[in-house]
Amino acid sequence: MTVLVTGAGLIGRLTAERLAARGDAVVLADVRPPPPVAGDVTAVVADVTDFAALAAIVRTHGVTRIVHTAAMLSTGIRQDPRRGVEVNVLGTANVLEVARQSGVARVVVASSTTVTYSVFGSLGPEPIGEDVRMAVVSERPGSIYAATKLAGEHLALVYHDLYGLDTVVLRYGAVIGSDGGPSTSVPGRLLDGLIAAGRSGRTMVLDDPYLVWGGEEEFVDARDCADANVAALDASRPLARVYTIATGRTVTLAGFVDAVRMVLPDLAVECGPEPATGFAGFRHRRPAPSSPEAAARELDFRCRHDLASTIRWTAFGRVQPS
Ligand SMILES: NC(=O)c1ccc[n+]([C@@H]2O[C@H](COP(=O)([O-])OP(=O)(O)OC[C@H]3O[C@@H](n4cnc5c(N)ncnc54)[C@H](O)[C@@H]3O)[C@@H](O)[C@H]2O)c1
Repeated sequence: MTVLVTGAGLIGRLTAERLAARGDAVVLADVRPPPPVAGDVTAVVADVTDFAALAAIVRTHGVTRIVHTAAMLSTGIRQDPRRGVEVNVLGTANVLEVARQSGVARVVVASSTTVTYSVFGSLGPEPIGEDVRMAVVSERPGSIYAATKLAGEHLALVYHDLYGLDTVVLRYGAVIGSDGGPSTSVPGRLLDGLIAAGRSGRTMVLDDPYLVWGGEEEFVDARDCADANVAALDASRPLARVYTIATGRTVTLAGFVDAVRMVLPDLAVECGPEPATGFAGFRHRRPAPSSPEAAARELDFRCRHDLASTIRWTAFGRVQPS
């Protein structure tokens, strides 16, 4: 099969490498020239908001499946909300419409567990399922980023229901890990900062309200997200259509810092009192981990990497076993 991976960011690159390694033809598209990746991957420059460019790629390369990771993340959207909506909502609509017109066999759409964060205030201690009930007015998404991701999920599901397009949505938890470049995500920036401080002997002052959290939060390794993308491309009966990609485990901020200190013992951190709010400035603390059960059942996927493994990989790079 020929797979188009949109977005040559952290998860897109790792996904492209995995697909190429098993012999799939892979086209990796990004609005910026994609950095080199391992394996036989065709890199192209394309903006997902440009429908004609996407259609030309699908036609020229005979694309049969798509993994859509291209997006602006929450930090970028805070700086340019209009462009964020354009890339995340129109870009996803373009990918789905190109897939429909071209008879693409499956589209995997990257979403985020942040779509559920606004309901944390009304959830109990049970693992959080995918089909959370959300009161449209009082529990609307807690950020523009989450709103764009939810819109993308709805579009993917409606394209399935109306047109029979085979769509699978993956909600990754807070993604950490790095294959070398600087992180664009909030959790990635936190881990990069802690690792840099641990290496340099400088104290990291944790005063950015987006980088701290009260209570517990869950994290997922980017390599697991890439494996989940491959599993979602292959799954024979993805009936739920929406899956959480998470470990089922959570950690406090202090526990996260301690885990980095296990790898870099010189790490020193200065932090204010524990915030009353949850992760990345969201209003509520997380009441429970997300349930990874639907992904295990229907995608045959479970996360393989724990926090310690992700920290070692991010700190020491590719020499660590993946
Ligand atoms: N990193 C996280 O914490 C996290 C958590 C949950 C979900 N996600 C989702 O996972 C996906 C991948 O995230 P990532 O961590 O690899 O992020 P990333 O920032 O490393 O990669 C995103 C890529 O999309 C590209 N892009 C942006 N606008 C584009 C456009 N108009 N056309 C084409 N490409 C464009 C960027 O250049 C970048 O290379 C995203 O959809 C993101 O919303 C990420």
